Amino acid sequence: MNDIAIESILQEERKFNPPDQFVQKAKINSFEQYQQLYNKAKKDPEAFWAELAANELHWFKKWEQVLDWKPPFAKWFVGGKLNISYNCLDRHLNTARKNKAAIIWEGEPGDSRTITYAQLHREVCQFANALKELGAKKGDKVAIYMPMIPEAAIAMLACARIGAAHTVIFGGFSAEALKDRLVDAEVKVVITADGGYRKDKVVALKTQVDLALAENSVPSVQKVLVVQRSKELTQMQPERDYWWHDLQKTVSADCPAEEMDSEDLLFILYTSGTTGKPKGVVHTTGGYNLYTHMTTQWIFDLQETDVYWCTADVGWITGHSYIVYGPLSNGATTVMYEGVSRPSNPGCMWDIIEKYGVTIFYTAPTAIRAWIKMGDSYPNSRNLTSLRLLGTVGEPINPEAWIWYHRIIGAERCPIVDTWWQTETGGVMISPLPGAIATKPGSCTLPLPGVLVEIVDLDGNAVKTNEGGYLAIKYPWPSMMRTVYNNPERFRQSYWEHIPPKDGQYFYFAGDGAREDTDGYFWVMGRVDDVINVAGHRLGTMEIESALVSHQAVAEAAVVGKPDEIKGEDIFAFVTLEGSYSASESLANELKQHVAREIGAIARPGEIRFTEALPKTRSGKIMRRLLRGLAAGQDVAGDTSTLEDLSVLDKLREAI
Ligand code: PRX
Repeated sequence: MNDIAIESILQEERKFNPPDQFVQKAKINSFEQYQQLYNKAKKDPEAFWAELAANELHWFKKWEQVLDWKPPFAKWFVGGKLNISYNCLDRHLNTARKNKAAIIWEGEPGDSRTITYAQLHREVCQFANALKELGAKKGDKVAIYMPMIPEAAIAMLACARIGAAHTVIFGGFSAEALKDRLVDAEVKVVITADGGYRKDKVVALKTQVDLALAENSVPSVQKVLVVQRSKELTQMQPERDYWWHDLQKTVSADCPAEEMDSEDLLFILYTSGTTGKPKGVVHTTGGYNLYTHMTTQWIFDLQETDVYWCTADVGWITGHSYIVYGPLSNGATTVMYEGVSRPSNPGCMWDIIEKYGVTIFYTAPTAIRAWIKMGDSYPNSRNLTSLRLLGTVGEPINPEAWIWYHRIIGAERCPIVDTWWQTETGGVMISPLPGAIATKPGSCTLPLPGVLVEIVDLDGNAVKTNEGGYLAIKYPWPSMMRTVYNNPERFRQSYWEHIPPKDGQYFYFAGDGAREDTDGYFWVMGRVDDVINVAGHRLGTMEIESALVSHQAVAEAAVVGKPDEIKGEDIFAFVTLEGSYSASESLANELKQHVAREIGAIARPGEIRFTEALPKTRSGKIMRRLLRGLAAGQDVAGDTSTLEDLSVLDKLREAI
């Protein structure tokens, strides 16, 4: 745990009631209604979730037991049989949704596609048969390393359809990071594209796959399925690599969904933790399907005519839960955009909202801060009147950004849902219900029905109102992660032992510091472990340190987060060099490049500081608190009594 005090300096008193116009049409449209739902869930959570599971999802066979809780291991809807791709596709086909747009896709070079539920069903079935053709079957693991094209969602649904677990690996990760994940997840088939468009460039994804698989370094991988996107020149290895468009011509469009056990593995998604190695977060079928389905309805007040756009990448949990599974399970229209907003196309997001009449827009605070910088003229010159609801996710939102979003994008007409959750929680845990809960800029407000949150100290005692503490969850919920893939001990240690169980009460430790105010609203302050949040991307400082020390010039490295106006935090690395190397700007650049090669561009340090030594305690622990202070340009005189060699601090100050 970090040696930082959890304290909040944010004093924000403004409160915004749900706008009348919104409330009139909202499905949950009063605070009392929220309270009733919340209390019902609290009184008997199992009955609450069972009723929703029966009413909202299709089951091939009903469950025998709602919850089997052997802390910290939970099973939901034990014995139940279902298939999430059936729930996202087949069951809409006998309804008016058959010809409704399921996915509206906008490509980076300006090409676009609208895919109805009937068409999506057909393509998923074909893709599923192609996977079978390549030998993938129930229980196998399939990696998806793709740009933001419809085939990414199709591939996910196809895996789910045949009962193969997917592990989506963000297309911005390097070959090295890809390889680590393929090895850890014991992947049999890799799905990729020749290339994808990213920030005015084409990223040659297949080339990265070739590098990751070179010299048989991932023996479990047998086949690679390649989607043609950018027409990059691609070396196809005979017997291993297959084009999707070739297979598509030969496979049938008939592929009944496999009956999956509620607790069968649905996907593994890697995320950063305190140690160097990313952990494979395991999610299973039934509970995840139900929870993402319900939360999509509640948080976005989903209506049949909505055009919903979540700007995340499918490589992250937000893309899994709130681009693909949650919206499609509800029969919604979900927008996918291949590109990202950047200075060379400053109005692109607003153009897409105008073009498709987007009604619900869900994005990240770092993006909002970048749009503020680009200027109001871009959104102001577009017609954004279709919007009725806005959302944010991924990091705390600063009140100034919230207010800009409210005024400039929402025209003071759209409520904002600030949604707190994690890869591990599978779905949103704390968020306003937009027609029912008044919002305060910077607060994610109140927990969703069925979610028991408490801010506690490390002994599990509730802290006082407005006092900082650790965000803990006190009761299992359907989409909670089940374990760390192949490592239940790491699951126990990372999430359930920081706050030891007390009188049979277990505490899920989220890794975030937070406080609860007098209205019971939660204010999340950020990570309390060695995880930093750079532009909404979660990175472990140890991962970046390992990448740095793998360079021959580096003796030791310590990485901390430095406050950044746009990114929230930026990566600041302190580095000591091996004897024969000396500090230079070119070496700093080389090290930044090295980290980008090892992990991916998202992990490239913003700054590298060379130093003769790192500040350590007498027991040899790096004093990160001091380094964080130095990086932030603060006076770090504070408590240095445990510092082994005070002169180190002076030298570091000089370096800064
Ligand atoms: O620190 C919290 C921050 O993002 C972390 C989870 O990161 P990840 O697993 O990558 O998932 C991001 C998308 C769900 C959390 O531990 N975080 C996420 N949402 C918020 C947030 N911090 C403050 N407010 C939020 N709304």
